[in-house]
Amino acid sequence: MPLRQIEFSTAIREMQRRAFAASSARPESATRRSQIHRPEKGEIVKAAVYDAAGAPGVLKYGDVPSPMTGPDDVLVSVEAISIEGGDLINRRSTPPPRPRWVVGYAASGTVIAVGSNVRSRKVGDRVAAFDMQGSHAERWAVPAGRTWLIPDGVDAADAAVLPISFGTAHHCLFTRGALRPGETVLVQAAAGGVGLAAVQLAAQAGATVIAVTSGTQRSDRLMELGADHVVDRATSNVLDAVLQITGGVGADVVIDPVGTTLPASLAALAPEGRLVFVGNAGGGSLTVDLWPPMQSNQTLLGVFMGPLFERPTVRSSVDDLLQAVATGRIRAVIERTFPLAEAAAAHQFAETAKPLGRTVMKP
Ligand SMILES: NC(=O)c1ccc[n+]([C@@H]2O[C@H](COP(=O)([O-])OP(=O)(O)OC[C@H]3O[C@@H](n4cnc5c(N)ncnc54)[C@H](OP(=O)(O)O)[C@@H]3O)[C@@H](O)[C@H]2O)c1
Repeated sequence: MPLRQIEFSTAIREMQRRAFAASSARPESATRRSQIHRPEKGEIVKAAVYDAAGAPGVLKYGDVPSPMTGPDDVLVSVEAISIEGGDLINRRSTPPPRPRWVVGYAASGTVIAVGSNVRSRKVGDRVAAFDMQGSHAERWAVPAGRTWLIPDGVDAADAAVLPISFGTAHHCLFTRGALRPGETVLVQAAAGGVGLAAVQLAAQAGATVIAVTSGTQRSDRLMELGADHVVDRATSNVLDAVLQITGGVGADVVIDPVGTTLPASLAALAPEGRLVFVGNAGGGSLTVDLWPPMQSNQTLLGVFMGPLFERPTVRSSVDDLLQAVATGRIRAVIERTFPLAEAAAAHQFAETAKPLGRTVMKP
């Protein structure tokens, strides 16, 4: 009998719904209205919009009003948009709060306007940015505190891809997972954006990395990027493989961005190990039996980066990671680039073509 059953996917959907509602309300807030920089009447930009959640084909390329810049925001002329795993989930399953909704967590570009309270950014700065929606457009108004300056030598696409995937992986591995050199880490969904970042960062920290993916076509690249072992979940039992690799002990740390794999992740965890649950790429609902982790003195940790990206320690870790891209220490892996006008095809590719790392769009 489970000690407690947890409906993870419902909880995550509710968080996404609230985040959508909050971000859609933000520019219209009464307290901010007087300070909002409004675009010239009739000024429009191109964006990928949709009216109802669904398959990639719901995305239409069309005109939207140029975004309004609040007092704490910067307005970014977008150069590159990273399609995040969460963007696919939101488009597919989270009803948009209003028609002609613009999805998207991540992009990079050049600041073309700053709000009246903003001191940390100026027109002309090149920035990478994160927010809860709106990146799939030519222009994006985001809080200045959710932007990072792009170091010289880092191109716009790499910068767009980096903050969420690497920032999340860094937080999972080190802040929450307390990974130490010499430990073994199991990375579920290792070919995805967060997983691939976790593979690189864990390997560089001196851990033994077991990467899980489906199919063998991406195995060589995963090994090249730091995996010590690659397990094909389509043909192998992941638990058996981990136990064989670890001499029956299990992994010290597991990073799980999939959700439906949580029971297997828990079974593959060593006694006193740490399981970091960070996403629901597998979709669906699940229940987890919490007796075994209690009896094995294991720790379950949740990560939801939305509110954390403005925290100083997280902000500075993303700055450091951008510098690591500039010096070539880590690689932002981009499988393919599409024009924003082909957003539906780009989402289709990201969802079905089994890319390694990210799919990017350019306005
Ligand atoms: N909590 C947070 O703050 C946070 C931050 C960032 C991302 N996330 C979440 O983390 C998840 C991954 O994000 P991402 O950007 O890395 O996604 P992504 O690049 O789209 O990668 C998703 C990966 O999931 C794997 N996958 C899908 N279904 C699976 C299943 N049933 N079993 C095992 N693996 C499966 C796929 O692996 P194969 O290719 O091997 O099939 C794919 O590589 C998403 O749910 C996203 O919302 C959460």
